[in-house]
Amino acid sequence: MDRLTMRLHLAIILCCLCILAFSFHLSPQTIHKRRHDASSALNLQWQFFQKTAPAFSSNENGLDASYPWRFEGRFIFRPSLVRVPSDSKDYPPCSKLISLFGYTIGGSVVLEYDVSPVGPYREYVKMGGLVALGRVSVGKSLDGGAEQTNILGLGQWGTSLYVSTQVAEDVCKEVWGVPAIVADIEFEESGDILRDGPDTVAARQKFNLSGWKSARILTSTNTSDSINRFGNIPILWTPTIKALWAPVYFPSKGSNNDIDNEKALPVHRLRLSASAIGLQLCERVQNEQSYDEIPLGLALVVDNVMIEIGRRVSSGSISIFSED
Ligand SMILES: *[C@@H]1O[C@H](CO)[C@@H](O)[C@H](O)[C@H]1NC(C)=O
Ligand SMILES: *[C@@H]1O[C@H](CO)[C@@H](O)[C@H](O)[C@H]1NC(C)=O
Repeated sequence: MDRLTMRLHLAIILCCLCILAFSFHLSPQTIHKRRHDASSALNLQWQFFQKTAPAFSSNENGLDASYPWRFEGRFIFRPSLVRVPSDSKDYPPCSKLISLFGYTIGGSVVLEYDVSPVGPYREYVKMGGLVALGRVSVGKSLDGGAEQTNILGLGQWGTSLYVSTQVAEDVCKEVWGVPAIVADIEFEESGDILRDGPDTVAARQKFNLSGWKSARILTSTNTSDSINRFGNIPILWTPTIKALWAPVYFPSKGSNNDIDNEKALPVHRLRLSASAIGLQLCERVQNEQSYDEIPLGLALVVDNVMIEIGRRVSSGSISIFSED
């Protein structure tokens, strides 16, 4: 299969993903009602959480009790075709990697946070591929009973996640169980187009993003807090495998086997809104250390984004669409 055909396939899959994400986007009214239902369940957890609050609970900076953590800034998603790992032990656990002719959709997501629970920092995520059928643990239902698990429909899995500060690595590991790694993530504003790379490894992993001004769709005159964000797109997040999922899930009876239940992934609800979104040319500068990928030459750029993270789902139901 030549590169053009692959790009076509990829474009089709990306379109499907977008349609999927937006077709499950709820109207504000439903969200409001559902949020109310969910918050009563979350209140119980909140009281429990306060008693056992870890050192990092003071980092909570959310604007909504259902989403205690908030990140603001901008990010780019640079999709590319990547080979699936040759060894199946490198596949993400509790899910199925989706591939076509040995390739899947990976690439990178690069984020610049102006606001986070631990101050400004940068993040670089190497995306490993599309995943389906993620098995997540959602806790016992409130009336007691067995441990419940759900199956998530479709997501994007990250192979490794790098952050630019030590405190960000600590909070990722201790609060959400994300295996983050500290790296040097250099941004250069100048440059005719966005460039991702070359990546180098010296004392530690180093990433080089240039042309970053293209990631700023909004200028300093319109990035004030007063600018509207749209979206409130519900997403599900399984931090231990660094995967984001479309909010589509199916009930699945918890296994009688406790070991299976323990293996199911922890899941959090996440909400995404932004002020501006666009497509930009983006070049991938590869070197020998880069894994084999076929870049698409484009990146999705999202500016003035707000990512809100909820606590781990533990009330027996994910409750994005749940009927009460
Ligand atoms: C980063 O990338 C830019 C543009 O490709 C290049 O000019 C610069 O030398 C690179 N820096 C490093 C440290 O590799
Ligand atoms: C941001 O401001 C610039 C001029 O300062 C303007 O050209 C642009 O349209 C504004 N963008 C938005 C999304 O308001």
